[in-house]
Amino acid sequence: MTAADVAQQLDAFVTKTVTPEPREGNAPTRIAETEFGMLNAIGLANPGRASFLRETLPQIARIVERPVWVSVGGFCARDYAETCEQLARDDVAAIELNLSCPNVDEAPESAAEIVAACREVVAKPLYAKLSPHSWDLAQTVRAVESAGADGISLVNTLRGVALDARLRPVLARTAGGYSGPALKPVALAAVHAARTATDLPIVGMGGVRSGRDALELIACGATHVALGTVLFADPDAPLRVRRELADAAMQAGHASPESAFGAAHEPVARLAN
Ligand SMILES: Cc1cc2nc3c(=O)[nH]c(=O)nc-3n(C[C@H](O)[C@H](O)[C@H](O)COP(=O)(O)O)c2cc1C
Repeated sequence: MTAADVAQQLDAFVTKTVTPEPREGNAPTRIAETEFGMLNAIGLANPGRASFLRETLPQIARIVERPVWVSVGGFCARDYAETCEQLARDDVAAIELNLSCPNVDEAPESAAEIVAACREVVAKPLYAKLSPHSWDLAQTVRAVESAGADGISLVNTLRGVALDARLRPVLARTAGGYSGPALKPVALAAVHAARTATDLPIVGMGGVRSGRDALELIACGATHVALGTVLFADPDAPLRVRRELADAAMQAGHASPESAFGAAHEPVARLAN
């Protein structure tokens, strides 16, 4: 299966995060499998925005033939804003601000400051991708919405460590971002909390492998669902998940996935005995 075949199954394609300067990323080993998910410490490897805009983006647009969302990273609000300024072009459908990479050391300014700086310079839809590590996610969501975000993406990975047989870290950087099945309850909690704070669109992700997983994110308040780790093992997953979604809704007592939206926010009826 080619990258184009995978892309044909999608409503939209989100790029890997692009930063102002090229980055080699972290030293290998950068990926580790664990029992319930995977760890990655890629460290935002990317060709840098000049080369990305000149070569990578047109290439992606040609291959995927789907709306392309560009993920933007940086180390201060100006980094993000300068990249956003350059994304006002036809081959960019939306911008996702990666405010949550666990694999780089530099502490960025607050999420809201970065969103505000980008909002000033770009009219494209702006999504704020947040970390599940946030101590008060609802407050962060309200802050980025006030700063001008058009949507929220949740969740990025959680920080984790894997040890080898001799008890040394598998990843050269020791810790990496933990993704895959174990992340699903964390993602559900984050999307649920975010939905209590905003009516903006929410892209839910974290451990989705089946239509039921996607439905659970929708029930918590996601308007879109994204797939990550599952694609390593099953590049056909987008089509399969989409196919399973309607059945999963029926099995949960809903006529359609749309009618399950927000179901996890309904008060639980307690049966008196
Ligand atoms: C190998 C790998 C690379 C990733 N790179 C990025 C990235 O560049 N920017 C970003 O915002 N998230 C990145 N992520 C995080 C995913 O987009 C997603 O938020 C996370 O993995 C949870 O979803 P999943 O469990 O379906 O993978 C990466 C994840 C993996 C596994």
